Amino acid sequence: MPILNQLITTVLPFIPKTIVGQVAKRYIAGVRLSDGIQVVKNLNEKGMMATMDLLGEDIKNAGETELIRNGILSILQSIKVNKLNSNVSVKPTQLGLEIDKELGYHNLNTIIKEADRLGNFVRIDMENATTTDDTLTMYRRIRADGFNNTGVVIQAYMRRSETDVRSLVKERANIRLCKGIYNELQSIAYKKQQEIRNNYLTLLEIIFKAGSYVGIATHDDYLIDRACEMIQKFGLDKEQYEFQMLLGVREKRRDAIVQNGHRLRVYVPFGEKWYAYSTRRLKENPHMAWYITKAIFIR
Ligand code: FDA
Repeated sequence: MPILNQLITTVLPFIPKTIVGQVAKRYIAGVRLSDGIQVVKNLNEKGMMATMDLLGEDIKNAGETELIRNGILSILQSIKVNKLNSNVSVKPTQLGLEIDKELGYHNLNTIIKEADRLGNFVRIDMENATTTDDTLTMYRRIRADGFNNTGVVIQAYMRRSETDVRSLVKERANIRLCKGIYNELQSIAYKKQQEIRNNYLTLLEIIFKAGSYVGIATHDDYLIDRACEMIQKFGLDKEQYEFQMLLGVREKRRDAIVQNGHRLRVYVPFGEKWYAYSTRRLKENPHMAWYITKAIFIR
């Protein structure tokens, strides 16, 4: 990470929220459900699919998980009413995983059951390493309860991921493969860029060979190009995979992927609790230091 970006990352918690919000707004559809719906409509018109995410994580209060659960149920309804091509993504800690695992499971089960009734799909995002086992357990429990309209996320930076992927493909899991965003210890996670990329491609090859459905979630040209080569090599049908990108990131590359005939899904977050998500995105922006400096001094 360039030195100026490192410096801004350190002082980010002290920068006023209004400034962070100004710079980070490209990553968020807005604060209301209608904002998210409008963005998804626009993406659908451009031939892209979406996954909607109600912002909010690390919830420590059971009452709040109920509000979030109901909010996600409303998203599913709106997707249906507006005939949108979108599913939803949920974070286990927003459903109560860290308060009470049964509460978390109950909320997830309610959402997946409703999605199933509406013919929709729920992606369970992967959070930091303290939640990996519990998240995979929740996923397997919901599958054992008879639901197939759900999938998990695997983070290529985690050293355990190859073992996880080898088990998941045997279970015909629908997997989103990403690099991983949380700051994990070197003992459990790869840290070097090329190591993470190499592991990403190893995992992708295992998934492709097993014939499991995969969401190739990355903006990294190196990985996108290698993934396209593998798709050709294995002669995959375009229904067997999709590319995935985050709202506000690499839009030209996103358009090019669609123009080349691949399916692509955009992650569309919205909601009032935008801060934690937005700062994670900002830290990944190679131009963050410049954007923040500009927002502070050029107003
Ligand atoms: P990398 O960070 O190297 O980015 C490649 C290039 O893309 C950069 O050089 C830059 O040009 C551009 N870029 C990337 N991020 C940018 C930004 N914020 N602003 C501007 N430019 C940017 N993680 C996780 O731990 N759990 C999860 O559940 C998910 N879910 C998820 C869903 C989807 C659809 C995506 C695309 C990603 C995730 N992630 C995630 C995040 C993922 O783990 C990772 O942190 C980011 O995708 C960034 O990694 P890249 O592979 O894009 O490479």
